[in-house]
Amino acid sequence: MPDPADWWRDAVVYQVYPRSFADSDGDGTGDLGGVVRRLPYLAELGVDALWLSPFYTSPLADGGYDVADYRDVDPRFGSLADFDALVAGAHERGLRVIVDLVPNHTSSEHPWFQEALQGRGKDRYIFRDEPNDWESIFGGPAWTQAPDGSYYLHLFAPEQPDLNWDHPEVRAEFRSILRFWLDRGVDGFRVDVAHGMVKAAGLPDVGPKEGRQAEMLGDEQVPYFDQDGVHEIYREWRPILDSYPGGRMAVAEAWVSSPARLARYVGPDELHQAFNFEFMMAGFDAKSFREVIDRSLAEAEIVGAPTTWVLSNHDKPRHVTRHGSLARARAATLLMLALPGSAYLYQGEELGLDEVLDLPDELREDPAFLRTGESRDGCRVPLPWSGTQAEGFGFGPAGSAAPWLPQPASWAALTAAAQEGDPGSTLTLYREALRLRKAHPALGLGSIEWVQAPEEVLVLRREPGFTLVTNTGETPVTLSALGLAGEVLLASGPMAGETVPPDTTVWLAR
Ligand code: GLC
Repeated sequence: MPDPADWWRDAVVYQVYPRSFADSDGDGTGDLGGVVRRLPYLAELGVDALWLSPFYTSPLADGGYDVADYRDVDPRFGSLADFDALVAGAHERGLRVIVDLVPNHTSSEHPWFQEALQGRGKDRYIFRDEPNDWESIFGGPAWTQAPDGSYYLHLFAPEQPDLNWDHPEVRAEFRSILRFWLDRGVDGFRVDVAHGMVKAAGLPDVGPKEGRQAEMLGDEQVPYFDQDGVHEIYREWRPILDSYPGGRMAVAEAWVSSPARLARYVGPDELHQAFNFEFMMAGFDAKSFREVIDRSLAEAEIVGAPTTWVLSNHDKPRHVTRHGSLARARAATLLMLALPGSAYLYQGEELGLDEVLDLPDELREDPAFLRTGESRDGCRVPLPWSGTQAEGFGFGPAGSAAPWLPQPASWAALTAAAQEGDPGSTLTLYREALRLRKAHPALGLGSIEWVQAPEEVLVLRREPGFTLVTNTGETPVTLSALGLAGEVLLASGPMAGETVPPDTTVWLAR
């Protein structure tokens, strides 16, 4: 019997981006009340936990990843009472709740930064007389001049000054923030920019590079990310998490150069999990999937932690669009949900939503847009729940203000209500997949075995009695040609007899 405190090892976690999930008060912005109203939907979907992107007091210069008060809810998103109701309602339905923690930087509206601008407590941030050559992830220099002539570091937007993690007060404050939310009953934390808090001593220049620094993160180390010192912070946090009952966990958002570097963030004395972005970035072909899966499982095994899988989140184009079609997205999802480890879903992927590519520029809010021309707004469009586009697809109650970003007309067929009860809908596919994953608890744990197959086909044997086939090629394959038989438990697209068409994943009881 697995220990219930280990719930996170194979959990399916649903990411809620509160601003765009559901609006309870009709102002066009999603809120915690909206999440509470939709808890029955999430329970019926069959996920194990929700992860809430930031809902804290914030000027929303970066959608809430710029926190002005770490212990309160922004009035646009509700109140602490709404948060408590959310946790209670989720727990009643057997859903865990993970909150986002943003420790690398505060909002420039945070009282500490406001004091720093007055010349008090400047050493809680990183001020220098002269900037170095570091660039912001959102484009442009990572330094902005303060009114007193000095420069402060911001790896993201100028409204997100980086904290100085060498300062004991900063460390103490975050230990206290962890306890604040643990005391309110949260089951875990998603640690934002978990690779960023500690910078190389002396803040050395990166040196001349071709292209933007942000683009070289793939293979090289930069002096502001993935420094050894970050691990000390997690070793400080872990005993705090462990001191609470019921299995409180933390998952790292760490963009590092390899699965081996990523594995350093997880383990019994650091964080429980780290997002595996390699899987998200893999192309839709059997070879890349297989390589990434093998590498991820091997590295995770070394540190004895489960790996994670993710296909979409609030920072990357939705996987329907990235992989080029809904059929491929559905096939990739069924592949992901049959792998050992824990899987993260992003709100709306269960509806098969695509990236909204044609938002008018003047409505885009992503701070990266002005500096790089790239914008993450297209995956943050408010969810379509029911009804017509003119009614905001039921995002808020009748008569609400229009949703904060416009929804495309094509989503009329993709509302949750339109897909309800349709056996071919993506919503039904996700529900079925999650039900089967629960019925086969060994799927989320244990190891995998590849079965010999043509180059474009993945055949994966899991527990006795479960085989997966993914066809990423251009020609159909038959189960008998693969030496397989058995009952089809679920298919990501229509099958003709025992033929698995291109861009399709099939789960077999065999
Ligand atoms: C993380 C978040 C992203 C945010 C950034 C700065 O990457 O996922 O949305 O912009 O951190 O906090």
